[in-house]
Amino acid sequence: MPDALGVAWIEGHVVPIGEARVPVTDRGFLFADSVFDTIRTYRSRPFLLGDHLDRLRSSALAIDLAVPWSDSDLAGRILQTVEQRGFPGEAAVRVIVTRGDGGFGLAVPEPTVPRLVVLCRPAPLGSPARRAAGINLARPAEGRSKAGSVPSHVKSGAYLANVLALHEGRATGGFEALLTGEDGSWSEATTSNLFAVFGSRVITPGPDAGILPGITRALVMALCRSRGLRVEIRSLWDTDLEAADELFITSSLKEVMAAVTLDHALVGAGVPGPVTRALQAAFDQAVEDIAARDATRLVQVFP
Ligand SMILES: Cc1ncc(COP(=O)(O)O)c(C=O)c1O
Repeated sequence: MPDALGVAWIEGHVVPIGEARVPVTDRGFLFADSVFDTIRTYRSRPFLLGDHLDRLRSSALAIDLAVPWSDSDLAGRILQTVEQRGFPGEAAVRVIVTRGDGGFGLAVPEPTVPRLVVLCRPAPLGSPARRAAGINLARPAEGRSKAGSVPSHVKSGAYLANVLALHEGRATGGFEALLTGEDGSWSEATTSNLFAVFGSRVITPGPDAGILPGITRALVMALCRSRGLRVEIRSLWDTDLEAADELFITSSLKEVMAAVTLDHALVGAGVPGPVTRALQAAFDQAVEDIAARDATRLVQVFP
């Protein structure tokens, strides 16, 4: 049976998260020497699982961490965890691969025996209300950047800059907080990508600014294009954010969420705007279509 947090797959078993244990010598614990990915289920099936596994692999490759499991091994363990989740409704699944155990030194152990953990918890509640009303987006005064140790496109366990940006953002009443990119612009938020709308133009920062290439971002860009909205990939600065008609953020768990205030100042009319609402509806429809087709990769949907 799950506990309030959900269930975990670890060492071949699905157990309540509160009972899942990792040794203190695990390099994920000691050094954030790990990668992860977060997937949401719809109809109890992990959504766009193939894309998430691709990104997990590319994150692992970027830190020279060999992932010894095939996609079907990983998918099998994820599906088993979701099936045995024991709670009603949809799940948020986090797949974590660490560089395993290796004493206390920094040197990468030879041989490396990576550790796989799958965490499965109820998909966050409250999103529908926030989605309808929109959120306040904070720009932390510190202007935290993920740049430095690991490139932004890598979803490594090193999330301290994101943790601190969100900590500061929450202290000032933000639901989400922005990160500064490699060029000093506002590149993305702590666990979501950023979009600004100007009329029928939709602007989102790209890899040059230093972003995690969100799978929801890619889906939303495709939805924009199929609806005649022009997508521009470029950096967003204070002046852009302050002049935008609409701002919204995207992620697997938040889906498409309007930012109706920026540091408590109204964005546009201060309510979710027409483009954001249209994209929310398009996103819902795409989820239905993709889940019904059981497509696991965006290229199967938008070739
Ligand atoms: C830093 C960061 N940017 C963007 C995203 C959104 O990515 P996705 O849409 O694939 O969930 C995440 C997701 O966790 C993230 O951590």
